[in-house]
Amino acid sequence: MFAATTLTGNKPEQYAQLADQARGLLHGEHDRIANAANLAALVFNSLPDLNWVGFYFFDGNELVVGPFQGLPACVRIAVGKGVCGTAAQTGQTQRVDDVDAFPGHIACDAASRSELVVPLFARNGDLLGVLDIDSPLRGRFEADDQAGIEALARLYTDALEPESHG
Ligand code: SME
Repeated sequence: MFAATTLTGNKPEQYAQLADQARGLLHGEHDRIANAANLAALVFNSLPDLNWVGFYFFDGNELVVGPFQGLPACVRIAVGKGVCGTAAQTGQTQRVDDVDAFPGHIACDAASRSELVVPLFARNGDLLGVLDIDSPLRGRFEADDQAGIEALARLYTDALEPESHG
């Protein structure tokens, strides 16, 4: 059974603790759905001021919603569209302080005010999808949040291909 522990210290310290919990959850499992579901639940229940945490998977054509916590979401997002599609297209994390100021933002959950979207890649460079985290607060995500969530995303993609040590 998973026992939630309260995160303590500054943000980098909290994300280090969260990464330890994520390592425990993902250990020995490489199923992308199972790991995405558990990681989304861990993040959603561990960090304050979030209204949506989840995955969109690239199906070879567009992004399709995967495991998440929060309200029902848009099912398909074209690469290049919205914050998620921009992360997928550019390969760069999108940290958006105010979604209303982001051209083409897709309002799946009207409560979202700021977003952090990390693109996910296989070891061979293929696009796997994105990890999307939304907050009802403007400017919720700082550089420390970006670094912490990028580290979690890396744990997720590493767990999918455990045989490689690259
Ligand atoms: N707002 C996102 C869409 C996904 S949801 O927020 C769950 C975007 O613009 O990509």
